[in-house]
Amino acid sequence: MKINWRTINPAGDKRVVVTKELPGSRWHEVLTAAGCRVEVCTDTAVLSVAEIRSVIGTRCDGAIGQLTESWGEELFAALQAAGGHAYSNYAVGFNNIDLTAATRHGIPVGNTPGVLTDTTAEMAVALTFAAARRTGESERFLRAGRYDGWLPTLFLGELLRQRTVGIIGAGRIGDAYARMMVEGHKMNLIYYDLYRNEALERYVAAYSAFAQTHGQPPVTCRRAERVEDLLREADVVSIHTVLDDSTRHLLNAERLALMKDNALVVNTSRGPVIDEAALVAHCRTHPNFRAGLDVFEKEPELAQGLAELENVVIVPHIASATKWTREGMATLAACNVAGSLLKRPAWNRPDVIPFLEGNPPQASPSILNATELGIPIYEG
Ligand code: DGY
Repeated sequence: MKINWRTINPAGDKRVVVTKELPGSRWHEVLTAAGCRVEVCTDTAVLSVAEIRSVIGTRCDGAIGQLTESWGEELFAALQAAGGHAYSNYAVGFNNIDLTAATRHGIPVGNTPGVLTDTTAEMAVALTFAAARRTGESERFLRAGRYDGWLPTLFLGELLRQRTVGIIGAGRIGDAYARMMVEGHKMNLIYYDLYRNEALERYVAAYSAFAQTHGQPPVTCRRAERVEDLLREADVVSIHTVLDDSTRHLLNAERLALMKDNALVVNTSRGPVIDEAALVAHCRTHPNFRAGLDVFEKEPELAQGLAELENVVIVPHIASATKWTREGMATLAACNVAGSLLKRPAWNRPDVIPFLEGNPPQASPSILNATELGIPIYEG
């Protein structure tokens, strides 16, 4: 099938391939200023490895790829053979990347952290309440013309105020979600992470003291030693972990069985962290259990039966889909590629906002294999 492309700055002397249209225009300016001729795929279908390999061809300096594509040995070898030395994922997650293969072929791999945090956390909050208050189910009921009038028993859901929220993965997004739920809804927090998040613990303690001075009950925060402890205790479980071999099917049938019958689980991280078939079976047998899902195990396919479940709210991987975030991701990806092509140091700091406004720093915002490739860290 013919693949359609458009070219930005055709006179540029470095060829950069971008496998999907990206929002905004700052990223064009960044790559144009770095002397790049940018070829953008204008089709929405996911490109196969063979198709990407063919577009890399015999001369390609860099690429921006998508989380839906598998960037491994074949593509990094092809990029290196075509003279390439720059790649950025248009995502903060990088489970679609074989970093070892990229490093072996001398290709810096960028990602886009720092601009998805609040946007993704807000979607996790939206899914939490959509599931708790049954908004999908009740909207379908209403649209189907089945609403015959107010009833005391119509669509009873769960009140979350002062109950317990559990987060699995207390990195940036999990931390932001936890603060929203603690502050906004006075929920007690339990978290599970390999590392202690002292800043979050201090924040909840300070918020609890503040709440009490305003006549409100205290809120608590504790780190669970085992994920099972969190699953038993939490009324809401929100997943914010990376996907790797240690987290694949972290929530399986056995662990779902530990959760309260009326608990709810939210996933805005990666689909395979939940055994989706087990979740379908659990939701079938536990009608008061609810789930809010942005990601799926075999995206874009859904596990058999998932779409028919009334106690599950599903959206198509849009947790980071705000204009500000998606344009920011495009800018960061472009700065990663431009920075690698121009042999700039890696920024690798949590605050990436300087790249989004004014003159961006002379650095690549986030290079995952900077240490392995001996790329210096920005010191300006
Ligand atoms: C990411 O960047 O990893 C997100 O999943 C995109 O929404």
